[in-house]
Amino acid sequence: MSQALNGIQPGTNASGSRTNRQFRLKNRPETRMDADTFELATVPVPALKEGQALIRTCLLSLDPTNRIWVADVDQYMPPVQIGEVMRGLGIGQVVESKHPNFQPGQLVTGPVGWQDYNVTDGKEDWPFSPLPQVPIAPEDLAGAAGMTGLTAYFGVFEVAKLKAGETMVVSAAAGAVGSIVGQLGKITGCRVVGIAGSDEKCRWLTDELGFDAAINYKSADWKQRLIDATPNGIDVNFENVGGEIMQFVFSRLNLRSRVALCGLISSYNDANDEKTKVSITNVLMKRVRVEGFIITDYFDKFAEGTMKLVGWISQGKIKTKSTIVEGLENAPDAVNQLFDGGNVGKLLVRVSDIQK
Ligand SMILES: NC(=O)c1ccc[n+]([C@@H]2O[C@H](COP(=O)([O-])OP(=O)(O)OC[C@H]3O[C@@H](n4cnc5c(N)ncnc54)[C@H](OP(=O)(O)O)[C@@H]3O)[C@@H](O)[C@H]2O)c1
Repeated sequence: MSQALNGIQPGTNASGSRTNRQFRLKNRPETRMDADTFELATVPVPALKEGQALIRTCLLSLDPTNRIWVADVDQYMPPVQIGEVMRGLGIGQVVESKHPNFQPGQLVTGPVGWQDYNVTDGKEDWPFSPLPQVPIAPEDLAGAAGMTGLTAYFGVFEVAKLKAGETMVVSAAAGAVGSIVGQLGKITGCRVVGIAGSDEKCRWLTDELGFDAAINYKSADWKQRLIDATPNGIDVNFENVGGEIMQFVFSRLNLRSRVALCGLISSYNDANDEKTKVSITNVLMKRVRVEGFIITDYFDKFAEGTMKLVGWISQGKIKTKSTIVEGLENAPDAVNQLFDGGNVGKLLVRVSDIQK
């Protein structure tokens, strides 16, 4: 028996039947993703079979890892293949269901993809799951208490094992992961120094999020400012960028410090760029523990992490910001904000409104 959510949906054609816009991978980019990387196809939404549910995409998360997924390189998941719908996580709403676990109107999180609709049988490797019923905005469940917040949470507490009184430096500090990392550092009782790409972002970090210092890496004297901001050296580096920034942070690492190696965004568009290479001599001299991690490593602890983050967000101990781009059609262009520094906090595309 099929149940349906009433109301006119985006992605509906003149005859009332649903159509699905999909961005499919057309070409693997040499450097940046551009208009030639994806092609837009419009296909009918198939009728549901028993055991399936139809999910309309509401919020699509844009992530630096999108650039990794379109590259044919060794990575933590299979690359997206040419012709496949671009992979993307996000929040959707069930519009019709012939599956006992999905009810029309229900909000779910999972692999929505760069498309309007998804037919699910609930058996994906990373399956859709109900969004927790908690008192925070859906945008925050897609970011600060979603995958990027969880990356910050497990990176800070499980990988870096941050302790009160330590000094932590985080790069890409005004982004989705970095802005949460720094606030977790303050909650823990640490000195937190952020590195970000504009004075405005730095002011947000210190004045609103409570970072002890924030340094604009585009300013001529940023290295001296990082020295001044870390008088006792650095105990934990939460690394999101790599390249010259990571290299200089490494020169300030203390004996037996830790590096939570979360991302290397400066090299994603050009892995051969010499500027992104980092020497690890200091890792040896200072007996540093460098640990790379991928959030999927912590899948079985997501519920615990989500509830912690939701608690801090709802108490105002973690402040959040999202940069929301309207319309699926803008996703291929918007994703480059991540590489140009256009976003503050979590970058999302609103593909459709959530229906009450
Ligand atoms: N390991 C995992 O499981 C995992 C999960 C999620 C994310 N990550 C990684 O975490 C990092 C941050 O991801 P996010 O989702 O939170 O993105 P984000 O920080 O919201 O956005 C990326 C930011 O990086 C900065 N950036 C871009 N290119 C740069 C460069 N060449 N040099 C310095 N800064 C640069 C930009 O800010 P500025 O204005 O400051 O330049 C940009 O806003 C990425 O490396 C990502 O791959 C890893």
